[in-house]
Amino acid sequence: MDRSVQPFGATPDGERVRLYTLRNINGMTAEIMTYGATVVTLTAPDKDGNFDDIVLGYDHLAGYLEASPYFGAIVGRYGNRIGKGTFTLDGTTYTLATNDGENHLHGGLKGFDKVVWDDEPVDRSDAVGVKLSYLSKDQEEGYPGNLDVSVTYLLTNKNELRIEYEATTDKATPVNITHHGYFNLTGGERDILGHELMLNADRFTPVDKGLIPTGELRAVEGTPMDFRKATPIGARIDNDYEQLEFGGGYDHNWVLNKKGDQMTLAAEVYEPTTGRVMKVHTTEPAIQFYAGNFLDGTITGKDGIVYRHRYGFCLETQHYPDSPNQPDFPSTILRPGRKYETTTIYAFSAR
Ligand code: BGC
Repeated sequence: MDRSVQPFGATPDGERVRLYTLRNINGMTAEIMTYGATVVTLTAPDKDGNFDDIVLGYDHLAGYLEASPYFGAIVGRYGNRIGKGTFTLDGTTYTLATNDGENHLHGGLKGFDKVVWDDEPVDRSDAVGVKLSYLSKDQEEGYPGNLDVSVTYLLTNKNELRIEYEATTDKATPVNITHHGYFNLTGGERDILGHELMLNADRFTPVDKGLIPTGELRAVEGTPMDFRKATPIGARIDNDYEQLEFGGGYDHNWVLNKKGDQMTLAAEVYEPTTGRVMKVHTTEPAIQFYAGNFLDGTITGKDGIVYRHRYGFCLETQHYPDSPNQPDFPSTILRPGRKYETTTIYAFSAR
């Protein structure tokens, strides 16, 4: 196991950015930068033991600063959407930045993906890592309370990228932090439609045209949203189904089959040409599966690869979108004196 750190440029405000390289005993590497707490590179072995970079992103900081659809970043304070950018908490109505039509998305105009985090190395017996911390000030993007956040990335010797999230606040506030990696287990050879996906979910939260949940929890049974048995992502993505029309394909929140916040298997992805497998375990109650529908070939990423339609997919562990406006959804409100603690593991293998 080893870890190194090097300069990775600076923001327009002159804040210096650092890039950590983590390597485990099997030769798997993760590169993580302090801007956006972003995973820039993640390599994983295929069935013949060949390592490839299996996440989308840019070669240099400049790409991330110019235009990034949250490639590899941490999103927050509230990942996913809050309808019309407003919610009422303890009798006070708060107005958030709107940055997705009339809605609030992934923390607003300058969310956790666009700030420089403090960094400190972390070592565990079977893992090497980095802890990234950020103080999100009271009223930032409209949210109440000073929120102290930390995200610890650990690369374990079991070929897992383990992410531990923690936060505390001095005023009640919604919190829903997630990782926005775009995966392509072929190593960027082609789009992700041939990847076979399993989601451990009997239900999902249908949305309106603005991708805000209607409040219904709908059974996946008999719909193209049913991934309880592994199915190629492309098999039904263009089916005539209103929810797929609204999302331009899959861009929905699945309700995981689980009780409470125990760590459970949320998703498994298998890529048949390389044999790579990715399993996602989480303490969170739900997962957003986004099929890269908004990628359209206008972005050229690492190694000159053009990110065409559906060239990467995201599996964002989370609470349901728009929970602050949905009293029947599990609460996302963090109160002073309480600790926000969630963990998600992306585990890699090949068969
Ligand atoms: C959302 C998409 C959004 C994308 C931004 C995903 O988490 O579900 O609707 O377009 O992030 O790149």
